[in-house]
Amino acid sequence: MNQTNDAVDPDAVPKARLSSGDDIPMVGLGTFGSDHVSGEAIAEAVVGAAEVGYRHFDCASVYGNEDLIGGALQRVMANGIAREDLWVTSKLWNDKHAEEDVIPSFQQSLKDLQLDYLDLYLVHWPFPNFHPPHCDVSARSMDSKPYIHDSYMRTWRQIEKLVEMGLVRNIGTSNMTIPKMELLLRDAAVKPVTNEMEIHPHLQQQELFDYVRSNDILPIGYCPLGSPNRPERDRMPGDTVDMEDPAVLAAAENHGIHPASVCLKWGVQRGHAVIPMSANPRNYLSNLKCVTMDPLTDAEMTALSQIDKHCRLVKGHVFLWKDDQTWEDLWDLNGEITPA
Ligand SMILES: NC(=O)c1ccc[n+]([C@@H]2O[C@H](COP(=O)([O-])OP(=O)(O)OC[C@H]3O[C@@H](n4cnc5c(N)ncnc54)[C@H](OP(=O)(O)O)[C@@H]3O)[C@@H](O)[C@H]2O)c1
Repeated sequence: MNQTNDAVDPDAVPKARLSSGDDIPMVGLGTFGSDHVSGEAIAEAVVGAAEVGYRHFDCASVYGNEDLIGGALQRVMANGIAREDLWVTSKLWNDKHAEEDVIPSFQQSLKDLQLDYLDLYLVHWPFPNFHPPHCDVSARSMDSKPYIHDSYMRTWRQIEKLVEMGLVRNIGTSNMTIPKMELLLRDAAVKPVTNEMEIHPHLQQQELFDYVRSNDILPIGYCPLGSPNRPERDRMPGDTVDMEDPAVLAAAENHGIHPASVCLKWGVQRGHAVIPMSANPRNYLSNLKCVTMDPLTDAEMTALSQIDKHCRLVKGHVFLWKDDQTWEDLWDLNGEITPA
């Protein structure tokens, strides 16, 4: 394996033990190009990130680049990293929730990624609702539906089959809420081991975080830096900027590090995995290295715990199923699943 002088020893990167017994690296590389980073650039970043010590890659069929990432993973393994030392996640997109579509969609991801098993497979959203790529927040699908638990469980049964078939080692959810998770935990034969959810200092989701952890489910935080280059459709007036928060800047100054490193150190020390995306070698190296050294102090962790602004960036407008709704309806804010 070619290693740069600055490479991080993968054994120095913190890992979390999942309820399945598997260990997942607490820092992974995000691979969504946010509509402006090409699949080729992401694939190059996968190769470069593995060279500097990344072993965890967060993929999804909807990112449209799994075929290119498959080629990158082949290069990574040809460079001497064993398959069992990699952690590869993929996700089922919303247009493939029908029982007969789940396993074929998984198999397409496996084929594109050029692997014979995945470490983790997630249901990307609890809604079967989808929309054309790059569409505006006002776009709606005529077929959109509310959360229907029986339908979700039919999808989940197929996901469970993938475990029985030996094609995936772990299964999990994404973008869930407590009431939806309660029903899934009641009815699942194979429980989710992770929940991927938006987490950054300005959206801490403490209640959901505590709930999943108390059920032995690891939170994986997406947009851990506050997604500074997210697509236009995910930008709204009133969104706040984590990396400009005074508490983040103060900790960055104390440690002589970039505010991005503060967000990631905070996440890992708090106990959730982080999956920052970067196609820039200097950034992806520092995003990994920062969690291996010089921890934030208790006082800094306390200060950061107090800057939650409940600022959700990926609001999910396009998944709404009725005209008179707001995006908050997707997130069951009053503790009950929003009725049809
Ligand atoms: N499950 C879900 O529904 C879901 C939803 C959204 C995202 N995700 C996953 O989460 C991943 C991360 O989310 P995200 O990409 O939206 O947001 P993010 O990781 O918070 O932010 C990524 C952006 O930050 C910049 N950046 C990275 N490191 C930096 C550093 N050290 N200093 C300054 N800027 C830096 C990157 O630009 P450069 O390339 O220039 O470094 C990139 O544009 C995605 O790629 C995807 O895998 C999952």
